[in-house]
Amino acid sequence: MKNDMINIALPKGRLGDNVYEMFSRAGWRCPEIENPGRRLTFENPETGVRYFWVKPSDVAIYVEKGAADIGVAGKDILLEYSPDVYELLDTGLGRCRMAVAAPKNFREDLKKTLRVATKFPNIAKRHYSSLGRDIDIIKLNGSIELAPILGLSDVIVDIVETGATLRQNDLEVFDTLFEISARLIANKSGYRFKREKINMIKSSLSALKGENND
Ligand code: PRP
Repeated sequence: MKNDMINIALPKGRLGDNVYEMFSRAGWRCPEIENPGRRLTFENPETGVRYFWVKPSDVAIYVEKGAADIGVAGKDILLEYSPDVYELLDTGLGRCRMAVAAPKNFREDLKKTLRVATKFPNIAKRHYSSLGRDIDIIKLNGSIELAPILGLSDVIVDIVETGATLRQNDLEVFDTLFEISARLIANKSGYRFKREKINMIKSSLSALKGENND
């Protein structure tokens, strides 16, 4: 099984650049990806890895369906979509948190249904149902912070990284739901058949993990 190619889904964007950098330092460099042109997949036959970039929210689908053997996805995506995959390692990259935020002067009226704008309807529903709170979900795909500013929602459930977006728009965190970081995930049957190689990748990344904990 040593020569099996491992298909790796990387999340496009700044997180993905850091993730590839970590794989590269861990010994899984792929010269093709550093000079991409218009190619969509990048192979290094010597180390037996094949990378491809996908939308961060799609990584879990590629891995769950087996199009990728492994991938790196944020804990936010894993909790929102609950894909049937193994979570092998917390890479320590992409640290941020899921929070409820609202305009600074917001006071909740418990007699009214709370209007919640979010990209993460399942996470928001679970949170408010654990509180026994009635809500209306307003599902958006980006720029969530606009919703309470324009009166589309009362609060948002969204990712806060530096807090700059909230601060610059007179919003503040009312509640933190959980901490987020990027996780190495594996397809369940891929892991059975390519366990040795996948574990080598996991161990080599794990050895670098301490460097991402600042
Ligand atoms: C995310 C998130 C916040 C912002 C938080 O948005 O939804 O808007 O980052 O970062 P900060 O705390 O450092 O300001 P993203 O950049 O993914 O874009 P989006 O508006 O498309 O969701």
